[in-house]
Amino acid sequence: MAKDINKDKFPEETKLKLSIFAECFREWFPVFIHNPYIKEVYIYDFFAGSGKDEEGTFGSPLILLNEAKGADCQYCKQVIKNNKTVHFVFNEKEKLKQKKMIENIKSYMNECLSVNCKAVSCIYHYENFNQMEFKDIFQIDKFQFILKNNSCGKFILLDQYGFKQVDRDIFLQLVNAPKTDFIFFISSSFIRRFKEHPYTKQYFDTEQILFDETKPKECHRLIAQYYKNIIPSNKEYYLHHFTIQKGANYWGLIFGTNHSLGMEKFLKICWNKDELSGESNCNINNDFSKGTLFYNETGTVRKQEVESDIRSKILSGEISNNIGGLKYALKKGCLPELFTLVVKQLEAEKRITRVGNLNYSSTNIHRVEQYKINLI
Ligand SMILES: C[S@@+](CC[C@H](N)C(=O)[O-])C[C@H]1O[C@@H](n2cnc3c(N)ncnc32)[C@H](O)[C@@H]1O
Repeated sequence: MAKDINKDKFPEETKLKLSIFAECFREWFPVFIHNPYIKEVYIYDFFAGSGKDEEGTFGSPLILLNEAKGADCQYCKQVIKNNKTVHFVFNEKEKLKQKKMIENIKSYMNECLSVNCKAVSCIYHYENFNQMEFKDIFQIDKFQFILKNNSCGKFILLDQYGFKQVDRDIFLQLVNAPKTDFIFFISSSFIRRFKEHPYTKQYFDTEQILFDETKPKECHRLIAQYYKNIIPSNKEYYLHHFTIQKGANYWGLIFGTNHSLGMEKFLKICWNKDELSGESNCNINNDFSKGTLFYNETGTVRKQEVESDIRSKILSGEISNNIGGLKYALKKGCLPELFTLVVKQLEAEKRITRVGNLNYSSTNIHRVEQYKINLI
């Protein structure tokens, strides 16, 4: 049985995971409450735990509620102004943990109301599934209706123990759901270690994952690639991952979105946490570390790999306009500005010209005007 995460003080690696959840939701929430096509916003935390660790550090449900206020309750005010309905839905399977979670949420909300807006009740709706088994939630008609509804924005947090909950079927339901971003935790090391075990094979076709025993650090990257391979090939979709090393184990997060802006924001968080590769807390590519003699901010292994890949794709004509190039950088786990850097280099070398709505914009790429790249 997995050790109860809420019974001790959260270790640093758990705090890193929680900080990524928090930042991810912080970026997501304002976008969705300002989206004119979205009427209702649903925030689901299906493995909510009891709300705090033994020292009182917030776990995921309280983190989400706290982020949804914004500075000076700005988001509460915007939700009212924009006439949105916001629902928080929590689930925790274990009875005692769920009871504790409800107490923690109630006392958090009461304190928030008395310190902040002084209203009688919170404008955010709060629901609780009754200790449900995670996969059973996907059988609930109301949940399926919301999941498939284009006017409902969904943020889905899946902080499972181990690896068995987000199987192929659940993953595809998440990927195919409109206006839905999700982030989940997975113990990638366990899949690698027990890849031959029938229990693991129930959930993962481990034959499809070519683990390199000499590179245990890379196991979560390979798990993320396994999920990428499941995404229908004709679908525009973005998936990125972050490896968290704890001792000899490698855990990880996987984030999915069908919108380039969602991925831009997630990548910004990852590159802020890891300036070398935007994907781990363990120097996954063995780069020279910051502060050492050979450290080169623009020349890390990952940046160089993707930069030269983009360069050859432009020169072969495979990338023939800025939108395709910016999205390609995102798909490779790099910020889109890397594409613009390559374009500038190729222009300076007189290898390409640009035609159309010329710009060097590299953020909010869904709004960027398109130009064409011609080879000289
Ligand atoms: C990693 S902990 C979540 C911690 C929580 N997110 C936090 O920040 O404190 C996973 C939680 O999921 C619960 N759980 C385990 N299996 C579950 C299942 N099949 N369905 C729902 N909850 C489950 C566990 O009791 C545990 O509290």
